Amino acid sequence: METLLTTLSVFLCIFMPISSSSSSTATTTTDTLLANQSLSDGQTLTSSDHTFQLGFFSPPKSKNRYLGIWFKNSNSTVVWVANRANPISDSSATLTFQSDGNLAIFNGTKTKTLVWSSNLTRRVENPVAQILWSGNFVLKNGISGDSLWRSFDYPVDTLLVGVNITRHKDLVSWKTPEDPSPGHYSFSIDAHGLTQLVLRNGSAKRFRSGPWNGLEFPGLDYFLFNPSFAPSYRSGTQGGEPVYRRIALSPSGWLQRLTWNNQSREWDVLNSVPQKDCDKYGFCGANGVCDMGKSPVCKCLPGFTPKNWQEWGRMDWRGGCVRRTELENEGRDGFLAIQKLKLPDVLDYWTSSDMSLDGCRRECLRNGSCVAYTNSDISEGGKGCIMWFGDLMDIRMLDNDGLQQLYLKLASSDIEAHSRSSKKNTPVVAIVVPSVAVPMVILSVIGWYMSRPTRKKTEGDGNAEDEDLDLPLYDWTTIATATSNFSLTNKIGEGGFGPVYKGKLVEGQEIAVKRLSMDSGQGISEFKNEVSLISKLQHRNLVKLLGCCIHGHEKLLIYEYMTNESLDYFIYDKERSNLLDWQKRFDIIMGIARGLLYLHQDSRLRIIHRDLKTSNILLDEEHNPKISDFGMARIFAGDQMEANTKRVVGTYGYMSPEYALEGFFSTKSDIFSFGVVLLEIVSGKKNRGFGNSNEEHNLLGNAWTLWKEGKAMEIMDIALEESCIPSEVLKCIQVGLLCVQQLSKDRPSMSSVVSMLSSETISLPQPIIPGYFTETSIDILLREEESHSENGVTVTLLGGR
Ligand SMILES: *[C@@H]1O[C@H](CO)[C@@H](O)[C@H](O)[C@H]1NC(C)=O
Ligand SMILES: *[C@@H]1O[C@H](CO)[C@@H](O)[C@H](O)[C@H]1NC(C)=O
Ligand SMILES: *[C@@H]1O[C@H](CO)[C@@H](O)[C@H](O)[C@H]1NC(C)=O
Ligand SMILES: *[C@@H]1O[C@H](CO)[C@@H](O)[C@H](O)[C@H]1NC(C)=O
Ligand SMILES: *[C@@H]1O[C@H](CO)[C@@H](O)[C@H](O)[C@H]1NC(C)=O
Ligand SMILES: *[C@@H]1O[C@H](CO)[C@@H](O)[C@H](O)[C@H]1NC(C)=O
Ligand SMILES: *[C@@H]1O[C@H](CO)[C@@H](O)[C@H](O)[C@H]1NC(C)=O
Ligand SMILES: *[C@@H]1O[C@H](CO)[C@@H](O)[C@H](O)[C@H]1NC(C)=O
Ligand SMILES: *[C@@H]1O[C@H](CO)[C@@H](O)[C@H](O)[C@H]1NC(C)=O
Ligand SMILES: *[C@@H]1O[C@H](CO)[C@@H](O)[C@H](O)[C@H]1NC(C)=O
Repeated sequence: METLLTTLSVFLCIFMPISSSSSSTATTTTDTLLANQSLSDGQTLTSSDHTFQLGFFSPPKSKNRYLGIWFKNSNSTVVWVANRANPISDSSATLTFQSDGNLAIFNGTKTKTLVWSSNLTRRVENPVAQILWSGNFVLKNGISGDSLWRSFDYPVDTLLVGVNITRHKDLVSWKTPEDPSPGHYSFSIDAHGLTQLVLRNGSAKRFRSGPWNGLEFPGLDYFLFNPSFAPSYRSGTQGGEPVYRRIALSPSGWLQRLTWNNQSREWDVLNSVPQKDCDKYGFCGANGVCDMGKSPVCKCLPGFTPKNWQEWGRMDWRGGCVRRTELENEGRDGFLAIQKLKLPDVLDYWTSSDMSLDGCRRECLRNGSCVAYTNSDISEGGKGCIMWFGDLMDIRMLDNDGLQQLYLKLASSDIEAHSRSSKKNTPVVAIVVPSVAVPMVILSVIGWYMSRPTRKKTEGDGNAEDEDLDLPLYDWTTIATATSNFSLTNKIGEGGFGPVYKGKLVEGQEIAVKRLSMDSGQGISEFKNEVSLISKLQHRNLVKLLGCCIHGHEKLLIYEYMTNESLDYFIYDKERSNLLDWQKRFDIIMGIARGLLYLHQDSRLRIIHRDLKTSNILLDEEHNPKISDFGMARIFAGDQMEANTKRVVGTYGYMSPEYALEGFFSTKSDIFSFGVVLLEIVSGKKNRGFGNSNEEHNLLGNAWTLWKEGKAMEIMDIALEESCIPSEVLKCIQVGLLCVQQLSKDRPSMSSVVSMLSSETISLPQPIIPGYFTETSIDILLREEESHSENGVTVTLLGGR
């Protein structure tokens, strides 16, 4: 293209009138300066398509004269300056050829001083200089046409199409809009082994593209190389008009892609970096990751945790992140692949262009200093190796389908934690188990599990290891003091997993402490890990788990304390049930449904509660429901989605038939329990111990019988008579019955439950006979359970099958 233009221009100039240096006033209309000509101040060369002009100019508010190239239709837009650091104070300057054929600027009228020169060491025969269509000013042999010097090789602050920025040919901003001398900001190629584009403020990095990967500069790709955004001064036409584009580094440090707006006669900025926070170099600190799609934008890399929680809490990310678990480096660490990111800065690294990805991984595993690796070139299916040592800087998520992935070395316990926490919501792309027994999980970044500041840390004897854990650990003395040594007066309940105590920390915060009575079968580190995961679940309808305490064989869970009792305290009591009118009860039902939906589907951990019941629904001051004990199933039984367990935990009356009889649990067994809770809220009665002992049916059976006879409203709590909305009550009863169907496949999912409850229009399926109703075998089981039960306390039966 360049050759074509050059040839064309040469062809044109032969037929164009040429003004000689002796014509003192006329502005030249030619694009070429011949050997016997010179260009004085006031004269210009104009490219043959009238896009660019070359001549002497003064920047705004300046009297200094410079030789430059500008857009003819926007003559203040200077794209190149010859003598940027060497201004001429008067209009005495001329551009001319030296005897050796070099282009030169001289000032002074009597004594001429050399101000600037093209500085070629080689003699130029038959020199001519020409301003081309592209804005490139070239010095060439007028006969052979060979160009020997090009302004494009000496860019100032602007890229036009065809300008190659290469090493040592940086863009350097103007000092100010009035002064083209070199300013603070530069945009250059950083190439030592790997090539990156870096925008600097002085010597400090301000913005960085990812390293060249054989196809693109990740993070700046759209800016430079997208064909439709090419930095062309003429990248096609719009309505027959040429489109002028340029990339310029502004005096205030922004790299901008601009397009000429012929209507407003101004340059429109198409892109500008650094624009977003994530553009700013190292915005999230060492080992932090910036993601504009998330709030807050900074996260730690998986397996890392903020170095200073307080600072992160204040959204000051500069301190960055540190490793949660130190690498073991006995070949027992693994790698987590993170996709769609801009690779870390290549500060301390090693690279090889011919190593395979496999070899790269082995080398990284072997080398104790290596913290991450990937292919250095992703063209042709991927090749080469980069390994990083030390901290990983300036990582961000890319919006586009980032092509490269980073394999991050982590302790195997952290990898397990991440693969587990990312199961839900996250397309786990592949699980690769390499030949050596190293766990490696590839996950897309959308759902990785990120750290959240802890609420409270242990003071006192917290050991150094605990400092780094992303888990609020309380020390035993603190909790013992808070609960008066677990005194009976502080005991507020007993669940299947152990007694619960009310406590008050020294600072005044009220807590509920659950003292786990059984061995969860987990080791300490798994237990901590599990608590850490669960403490990250946040939903307005879940009780917040604040942390845990481990002391010898004792394991305690610390929750936020809920002031206004559990749901059962209200709904089964003649007086207190009046405190909850229909609107309130409906809101409570919706809240429980939403909390359960979050546990089943919306949280990153898929959690099956396994012990949902009214005494596990706590109410806050405004009677908003909060589900408690929701992580227990995980803590005790791992994280299977559906499983068969020997240890049946739960409360009879709320348990689905398949769970009570076979120990088979799934989200659908929770939905059964939810249905029971719902019907209990509507009726104000317990499923177990419904009516008197002569009663033929339990609550479910009774609800079903009345429903069948079209008298379902009769099941409603009398306390609701005035406040109820019959259509809503009936809908709730119907949903409740659907939830307690005998077969789990007949029960709706939690998301259907939520939409059925919240929609006015959805037509609901008709329930059939519920589970737990006619089965005599279950009656036997129930009676058997009765004898284990003390004071209405939940019992946990072991065994089952
Ligand atoms: C300049 O040189 C060109 C040929 O290179 C010649 O045609 C022209 O007459 C010369 N002009 C002057 C003023 O010497
Ligand atoms: C730019 O154009 C304005 C008027 O259009 C003129 O006054 C000014 O001298 C021109 N500047 C240059 C550098 O040609
Ligand atoms: C020519 O320029 C130099 C510096 O570039 C300056 O020192 C000198 O005074 C100038 N001479 C005239 C006559 O402008
Ligand atoms: C030309 O070369 C000389 C000596 O090598 C150097 O001092 C000067 O800065 C150069 N000028 C330009 C415009 O590159
Ligand atoms: C820019 O680089 C390309 C590819 O290396 C080359 O073809 C082109 O001639 C270069 N342009 C200039 C102005 O040097
Ligand atoms: C560039 O660095 C200087 C000095 O370190 C600082 O004062 C200035 O704010 C920086 N510029 C930007 C745009 O950050
Ligand atoms: C720009 O707009 C003017 C009128 O607004 C029009 O005459 C001209 O052709 C347009 N195109 C260019 C390239 O200037
Ligand atoms: C890790 O690799 C780097 C670069 O090859 C090397 O300098 C360093 O000595 C290696 N360290 C170990 C422990 O092998
Ligand atoms: C708790 O027990 C410790 C020692 O076992 C005792 O020093 C302390 O006074 C007790 N605190 C209370 C509130 O009973
Ligand atoms: C519990 O709720 C009742 C009824 O709204 C209210 O009067 C009472 O103050 C609440 N108790 C607490 C401790 O907030």
